Amino acid sequence: MDGRRITPYDPIVRAIVLVGGAGTRLRPLTWRTPKQLVPVLNRPLLEHLLLHLRRHNVTQITLAMTERSEDIRTAFGDGAALGIQLSYEYEDTPLGSGGAIASVAQGWDEPFLVCNGDIITDIDLTAMIAFHREHAAELTMHLHEVDDPSGFGVAVTAPDGRITQFIEKPPRETAPSRLINAGNWLFEPSLLNEMNPTTFNRIEDGLFPALCDAERPIYGFSQPGYWKDVGNSQALLTVNLDLVTGLIPGHLSADTQGVLIGSGTNIADADLQAPSVIGPDCQIGQNVTISGSVLWDHVTIESGAIIKDSIIASGVTIGRTAKLDRSVIAHGARIGAGVELTDASVEPDQQIEAGA
Ligand code: GTP
Repeated sequence: MDGRRITPYDPIVRAIVLVGGAGTRLRPLTWRTPKQLVPVLNRPLLEHLLLHLRRHNVTQITLAMTERSEDIRTAFGDGAALGIQLSYEYEDTPLGSGGAIASVAQGWDEPFLVCNGDIITDIDLTAMIAFHREHAAELTMHLHEVDDPSGFGVAVTAPDGRITQFIEKPPRETAPSRLINAGNWLFEPSLLNEMNPTTFNRIEDGLFPALCDAERPIYGFSQPGYWKDVGNSQALLTVNLDLVTGLIPGHLSADTQGVLIGSGTNIADADLQAPSVIGPDCQIGQNVTISGSVLWDHVTIESGAIIKDSIIASGVTIGRTAKLDRSVIAHGARIGAGVELTDASVEPDQQIEAGA
C-alpha cells in the first residue's frame, strides 16, 4: 500500500476460488465431471461464477485445487478467454477452506475475496466491498436468508451488521437466525496468520467462531437476490431451470422462451416444454416429451420417450417409450426401451433393460 487513505470505492481485485472438494453429494454426476464443470445453461458451473467476479472488477483469480480437479485447468487455462487472469495452486491432500486460503494467500498484503466454487448468485460484490471498507471489517461474510438454515453455518447479526455469533449446522428448531453463510467472504490479509497453511482446517469451524468470540470486527452483508449452492443434483436442476427462465439477467444471450438448445442438436417432432435445457450434439426422436429437465451433450432420446424433472449426463441413450421422472442418469448409461424410472440414480455406463 502507498499510504493513501483507503476509500469505499477502492476495488478489491484478487480472489481465491475453492474448487478442491470431492463433490460427493453430486454423484453419480461427479464421477466423471468435477463439480465445477457440470453444465449450467450448457456452460461450466464455474464459468458463471468467474464472469460474475469479472463484472465486479475482481479479475486476478487463483483456483485452489487438488489433483483431481485438473480438468478445470484444461477447461479455463489462463482465463484470457473470459477476460480474467487465472492461476492455479494445488494441495497434495485437501486442506479444507482455512488451509487452502492460508497456503494460497501467503505473503499477500491486500484484502481479497474468497468464494466457494459451487455458488451461483447475483450478489452485488461492488457494494459488498464498499460495505467492508466502510465498516473497517477484518472479515465480511455474504449472508443469505433461507427458510431452513439447518444445513448451513448460521450467523446472528447486530443492527449494524456485525456478526455476534456463528454456529455451524444447528438443528432447525434451535437455529438462532435464518441468515446463512453464503460462501463469499472478504478477508483482510492480517487474518492469514490465524489459519494453518499445512494442516486441514475449516474457517467455518475455526476462524469464524473464534473471531465472534473475540468480538473482532466480522460483519455480515446481505441483500435480497438470487443465491444457490449447487451442492446436489436437485440444486443443479433448479439452478439450470431458474436461469433458463431468465431469473438472473445477463446469463442468457437471447430470449430462449424457457428452452435452451445446444448447437448441433437434432430434434424431430418433439414436445420440448419450458423450462428445459438441452445440451449440444443431442438426438431427440419423434414424439419425445421433455419437461423440467436438463440434458448434457451427446444424449440420444429415442421416439416416444417421456423425460420429466430429470438430469441426463453426457452420452446417455434413452430407449423408445421409456419414461423418466425425477431421475439422474450419469455418463454413458443406457436405459432400454419401455423402462420406467422414478427417483432413480443411474451410475455411469449402467444398462437398464425392461423387466430387469
Ligand atoms: P461434497 O463432497 O458434496 O460436500 O462437495 P464439496 O467437496 O464440493 O464440498 P463443499 O460443497 O463443502 O465445498 C464448497 C467449495 O469448497 C467447493 O467449491 C469445493 O470444491 C471447495 N472445497 C471443499 N473442500 C476443499 C478443500 O479441502 N480444498 C479446496 N481447495 N477446496 C475445497
